Amino acid sequence: MPKRNILITGGAGFIGSHVVRLFVNKYPDYRIVNLDKLTYAGNLANLKDIEEKPNYSFVKADIADLDEMRRIIRDNHIDGIIHLAAESHVDRSIKDPFTFARTNVMGTLALLQAAKEYWEETPEGFEGKLFYHISTDEVYGALELTDPEGIASPFTTTASSAEHHLAFGSEFFLETTRYNPHSPYSASKASSDHFVRAYYDTYGMPTLVTNCSNNYGPYQFPEKLIPLFINNIRHGKPLPVYGKGENVRDWLFVEDHARAIDTIFHHGKPAETYNIGGFNEWKNIDLIKVVIKTVDRLLGNPEGYSDKLITYVTDRPGHDMRYAIDSRKLQKELGWEPSLQFEEGIEKTVRWYLDNQPWLDNITSGDYRQYYESMYGKR
Ligand code: NAD
Ligand code: TYD
Repeated sequence: MPKRNILITGGAGFIGSHVVRLFVNKYPDYRIVNLDKLTYAGNLANLKDIEEKPNYSFVKADIADLDEMRRIIRDNHIDGIIHLAAESHVDRSIKDPFTFARTNVMGTLALLQAAKEYWEETPEGFEGKLFYHISTDEVYGALELTDPEGIASPFTTTASSAEHHLAFGSEFFLETTRYNPHSPYSASKASSDHFVRAYYDTYGMPTLVTNCSNNYGPYQFPEKLIPLFINNIRHGKPLPVYGKGENVRDWLFVEDHARAIDTIFHHGKPAETYNIGGFNEWKNIDLIKVVIKTVDRLLGNPEGYSDKLITYVTDRPGHDMRYAIDSRKLQKELGWEPSLQFEEGIEKTVRWYLDNQPWLDNITSGDYRQYYESMYGKR
């Protein structure tokens, strides 16, 4: 394996921390630089187990700061970038779209430009370089509920269920699906995806994009559905279900996403797009019932104990009805497939949040920011 200097942006966030951990542990000869602004969503406590490894370093910086990006890429002789840093929560984007445009669009552009300038100066140019941009299925817009009864029942991640699911004749997002974002979040991600592709088309810079479905698992900030609800159930707080709870999301265990990123970083073709997902669609209300049942069982509560916490609230404006990813291209061309059945993934996830209550308490109190600012400074 040749030595590489890899910049991972957003490595203190949910998915980024899993990607950093995987690369640091799996590739001791790579130098992994984690670049993160440590916004409310970034937490270095997510990486405590690897922060002392000799092939790991952290730099606090804002991807929208072009001069900083130039300096960091040059000083670290970066030859590969895995770009995850972003504002990532739809509800926040509805309240504050400008922050999303600044980080997701201008930040991605600054990173692209800084990488291009440095790579063009190196003797081998773009040879052996890669800018890998992590995007979302939300850029494709929303699908209809074509088979409400079929979708309402849980599907597992086995190959046969994928075939079964496809046989329903319902629509899926393909790599060729036309972009049609609806929220300020997905609009900003769509825009950044276009810039990434434009750098390949215009300058020949090796870039690639992947679009993944909803992730779940340890270290997710508790504003997103699954960790928020686990935390609320534990504290006996209401579970705010948007609208009728009929929207459908396609869930993938975060470590399976990190493994896909590893496979694609090493074997994906520049200029290509790969969809990542596990054919695992759930209606929100059905998923919520599984989460409640699992938390109650693990806490020793009687079955149905926390059902009373379900509270239907005003729907999210512009709430996309259904996301569903067809990831057969990735599965066929690069041999990746999800490793976990959903039931196992949810069990693992609920156990993790219940066993790591201090992590949740810290993150919800904001203490972790003060602690890390005292270590790394405010900048
Ligand atoms: P997250 O919000 O948990 O983490 C984002 C990280 O980016 C944080 O550590 C934050 O501090 C950092 N960051 C934010 N603004 C920054 C800036 N200006 N400069 C430097 N760092 C900054 O997000 P996540 O859920 O881990 O998502 C990571 C990426 O994956 C995002 O690009 C997101 O669009 C994409 N994605 C997420 C999901 C999902 O379900 N969570 C699904 C598909 C794709
Ligand atoms: P979320 O985790 O915010 O991910 P995304 O909006 O990117 O899909 O939400 C997942 C689904 O859960 C989405 O349909 C909105 C819904 N939801 C609720 O019903 N209540 C909540 O409190 C949250 C955060 C989400």
